[in-house]
Amino acid sequence: MQITLESQPAAKIETEALVSYVFESEKEKGTPVEGVIADLDKAAGGTLARLAASGELTGKALEMTLVHFVPGLAAQRLLLVGAGKREKFSTAELRRLASAALRHLKARSVKRLAFLARESDRGAAAAEAVTEGLLLGNFEGDTYKTDKKNGPVEAAALVGFDAAAQSGLERGRIIAEAQNFTRALGNEPSNLLTPRLLAERAQAMAREAGLAVEILDEKRLADLKMGALLGVASGSAEPPRMIVLTYTPPNPKPGAPVLALVGKAVTFDTGGISIKPSADMEKMKFDMAGGAAVLGVMRVLAQLKPTIKVIAVIPSVENMPGGRAQKPGDVQIAMSGKSVEVINTDAEGRLILADALHYAQQLGATHIVDAATLTGAIVVALGNVNTGVFGTDEAFTARVLASAKSAGEKMWPMPLDDDYRELIKSTIADIQNVGGRWGGAISAAWFLREFTGDTPWVHLDIAGTAWLDDAKPWMSKGGTGVAVRTLVELVMNFDGASSGK
Ligand code: BES
Ligand code: MN
Ligand code: ZN
Repeated sequence: MQITLESQPAAKIETEALVSYVFESEKEKGTPVEGVIADLDKAAGGTLARLAASGELTGKALEMTLVHFVPGLAAQRLLLVGAGKREKFSTAELRRLASAALRHLKARSVKRLAFLARESDRGAAAAEAVTEGLLLGNFEGDTYKTDKKNGPVEAAALVGFDAAAQSGLERGRIIAEAQNFTRALGNEPSNLLTPRLLAERAQAMAREAGLAVEILDEKRLADLKMGALLGVASGSAEPPRMIVLTYTPPNPKPGAPVLALVGKAVTFDTGGISIKPSADMEKMKFDMAGGAAVLGVMRVLAQLKPTIKVIAVIPSVENMPGGRAQKPGDVQIAMSGKSVEVINTDAEGRLILADALHYAQQLGATHIVDAATLTGAIVVALGNVNTGVFGTDEAFTARVLASAKSAGEKMWPMPLDDDYRELIKSTIADIQNVGGRWGGAISAAWFLREFTGDTPWVHLDIAGTAWLDDAKPWMSKGGTGVAVRTLVELVMNFDGASSGK
């Protein structure tokens, strides 16, 4: 979709649909028709005020009022989207509203639209949010349909923004396209996205973006003694891969922090010998969403060029119950030297991450964030609304949470007290890979922590947030691309001084 800034007055713009938004009015006598909407209404001879008086236009969040052939407007349609209460409005709401508006119009075969900013939303941040919303809304997970009903919107004009909006538009495009790249990877079926094929996609993306890339094959992984990862991979005919991408800033400072982004990429999780029930198993193609998010972030960094070095470490396997599969009770030696008793082969994410986290430190990481669809237990705790956030360094964890907030992604802190450590004690080995029935997301995080040494580390459990079971007005169903925006925000504002060591 082509997106441009447009300086003509809104009433004069010839387009299939002019979009804007109205706030819910506080007092009974208040009206949602005010500000630039009142200006439009003047051109329209009071049509909108009459609509409000009739009770059809209230400004309630995501209410869609579509009017055709409004007199005085050059546009064929006017879509007014409810923005809810003005005090509760934010860039996150603006992004969502732009997305929902585009989807409403796309369903009605509109191909070209113009989006009119309200008087309070004319700058770069608003333009970024609107651009992101439009691009995210235009994404459909229908890659393999031969008959696509509603094609994408082809062009959007941003109206009423100031000159600073251009930079916001460009940033929004970079970030939203990366988030859509991540979403598309999450939707890919596992027969078309094996660890080898994911590595090829990562390599192609890295070359195009100008990032250094290294793919470790099964032989290299064996040389490096990544026993925890190889144990998981052993049940599949598909060989594992470790994908390593590096972004190096133009003028690297000696002693500057190096951030590692580690992403779980299980291209399919059957559970292995501890096999999952068949209901909903098809969803486990998205068990590589953490890795896909990290790839999306790297794609952004290549374009936005932050000041710190960032290394992506993405362990990728298929978790299958083949004849050579590991079995409950098996002991594996992780790269760090720790021995692990595999009580449940379905707790595979933590095993591949163990070796990836250790490897990230060997590559020089001073700070680590991992993203993983790690546990069903986090979905029990937080539902599909918040990503669970665990960390060993208070300042660093707070910074990740702050990045999430400004990126408009909901994340919630989870505990990691020492008292939970005993859950993963093993009789025969250093630790075991499951902690029992209660606090499952926490024992999983504690398992990861065993492999992070003294490095400040934050773990994002995205099992509940990386996939949307049913479409929302602002988003198609399937992969969500969660964590891309938060991690971009974190990297772009990274300042080693105030985060741990
Ligand atoms: N990939 C799953 C976690 C998951 C579950 C993601 C539901 C998305 C939706 C993970 O590998 C897994 O199977 N975890 C087990 C751990 C258990 C065996 C301790 C789980 O959560 O049931
Ligand atoms: Mn599993
Ligand atoms: Zn899994």
